[in-house]
Amino acid sequence: MSNINWDFSGRVVVVTGSAIGMGADAVARFRRAGATVYGLDIDQERGSQVAMDTDTTFIACDITNRAAVGTTFDRIAAESGKLDILINNAGGFWEQLTVEETSEGEWNKVIDLNLKAVFLCAQRAIPLLRLSSSGRIITIGSLAGQTTMYRSSPPYAAAKAGVMALSRNLAYELAADGITSNVIAPSAVLTDRILKVRGPEERAATQKTIPLGRYGEVDDIVQWMMFLASDESAYMTGQTITVNGGRFMI
Ligand SMILES: NC(=O)c1ccc[n+]([C@@H]2O[C@H](COP(=O)([O-])OP(=O)(O)OC[C@H]3O[C@@H](n4cnc5c(N)ncnc54)[C@H](O)[C@@H]3O)[C@@H](O)[C@H]2O)c1
Repeated sequence: MSNINWDFSGRVVVVTGSAIGMGADAVARFRRAGATVYGLDIDQERGSQVAMDTDTTFIACDITNRAAVGTTFDRIAAESGKLDILINNAGGFWEQLTVEETSEGEWNKVIDLNLKAVFLCAQRAIPLLRLSSSGRIITIGSLAGQTTMYRSSPPYAAAKAGVMALSRNLAYELAADGITSNVIAPSAVLTDRILKVRGPEERAATQKTIPLGRYGEVDDIVQWMMFLASDESAYMTGQTITVNGGRFMI
């Protein structure tokens, strides 16, 4: 836990994928820092529990569904009148497949969640972010989108490469409005999902490839969300920050 006392009083934050892992931690941390926080997730049960535990608002939303995203952002607009920080966190894959093994359905499902949903949420967030004095779009990418040094999922890697380009587009388009857009690219963080996707042998082998000698913790990533959301990061936009224990250095 960091000693930095972030102050996000008066800021409105939306975190996608808020029911578990990094998203749930981000919800709690931004709320403790004084923000009004909306968590969006498809998992109604866990999402509601996180919201109850953290005094935040949960909205059940499938962020791959354009209509659902529209209704969700309309509600946030009606309740809050603006948005300061959008954190595109929801994402992931559930099966390690080769290109040959990847069905069209799997491709669409993974691309929709990891790439299309970022577009849908950003598009609806932009008018609200323009009403903020310090709008921020923070998207969680992945090392899988930057290089290939282990098996993951072809559509996941392609989508995570795509969000870096999309984030730069957003940065370019929205710079005149004072809105920044950046990506955080983690590599190996032991969330429940990763424990299911990668077995014990693979996890042990992976750990050996991380110069800092350990897996990332959720907090290692959420700290960077908070920095990128803060006024201190105002001059940085269109960038990808790789937070990976030195596993890949560029
Ligand atoms: N954990 C890692 O090692 C790692 C590494 C690199 C990048 N990332 C990225 O970090 C982000 C968070 O990863 P995580 O491991 O905490 O994931 P997670 O699976 O723990 O959490 C993802 C959340 O997204 C929600 N979600 C899934 N589909 C949704 C949909 N259609 N609409 C709304 N919500 C939906 C899930 O219910 C879940 O609560 C993802 O973008 C992931 O790709 C994670």
